Amino acid sequence: MQKVILDCDPGHDDAIAIMLAAGNPAIELLGITTVAGNQTLEKVTRNALSVCAAAGIRVPVAKGADRPLVAPQMVAEDIHGDTGLDGPVLPEPQFALDPRHAVDFIIDTVMAHEPNTVNLVPVGPLTNIALAMRKEPRIVERVRSVVLMGGAHTRGNVTPHAEFNIAVDPEAADVVFRADWDVTMVGLDLTHQALATPELQDRVRAIGGPVSEFVLGVWGFVGDAYRRQYEFDSPPVHDACCVAALIDPAVFTTAKADVRVELHGEWTKGATVVNFQDVPGMHHSNGSAERQTDFRANVALTLDWDRFADQIVDAVARLTAGL
Ligand code: BDR
Ligand code: CA
Repeated sequence: MQKVILDCDPGHDDAIAIMLAAGNPAIELLGITTVAGNQTLEKVTRNALSVCAAAGIRVPVAKGADRPLVAPQMVAEDIHGDTGLDGPVLPEPQFALDPRHAVDFIIDTVMAHEPNTVNLVPVGPLTNIALAMRKEPRIVERVRSVVLMGGAHTRGNVTPHAEFNIAVDPEAADVVFRADWDVTMVGLDLTHQALATPELQDRVRAIGGPVSEFVLGVWGFVGDAYRRQYEFDSPPVHDACCVAALIDPAVFTTAKADVRVELHGEWTKGATVVNFQDVPGMHHSNGSAERQTDFRANVALTLDWDRFADQIVDAVARLTAGL
């Protein structure tokens, strides 16, 4: 069983990630933390509570950073709508927030568990994670792994090279990728394979009941948005891929790479520069710490869509049975 803190900005695919984490017996969901991203902090936090209400999930939910470390705030209303989770009926929250700030929740939880047992799964901008690292640096050596949705090595989605989660808070992402921990980058190259196809939607529809209806409402809205904005036939379920890999590492392949975040480029700010091992290394000084080329990150490459789809269907069925 993998212990998980899911740091998110729900968000349509975040909602599915929450449901997959809560609906799979291989995951112990220790808590959900929220960060401004797809919409404002207030909206995404309410959405996290609504997703819990819709699926009968009862775990601590802690509200985090309301803006990036340095960059001006940016939201993704064009994809996620005015609420941040337009489409499904959003039920009233059924429980109160954890009183702690998300950063303190993350630190307390990581430090309270055995070393090397808690996985951080950030699927929004990395602001909370970077702040937690600065407030309690010991979390870096204590977490088991960081499996994050963000970045890309072939294309972006807010600019030609930058992916949304990294583009929103590049400085926070830079802190996370520089740290000496086991980090897996689940970027667009992987998540654009994780499509909620008509086949997957039909399997979820066949389950019936309110959880299935909620999930179909999520994919209906975001499917239209992806058709309009990116000419995709089906919407990607980006964030759920990170959870899927903790359930079953065989769900995607990875390659080792040195990942750097572009902080200064006029046209490339927020891009992840992914140096696989077949390219000459870089030597870089930012004035404080020098860093040699270091192929420490795992970069997700190829998805086993069938395994992924089976996990989603299984989680919806389990949550439905538990209501
Ligand atoms: C990422 O950005 C958000 O809109 C999604 O929730 C996902 O985490 C994809 O670029
Ligand atoms: Ca997200």
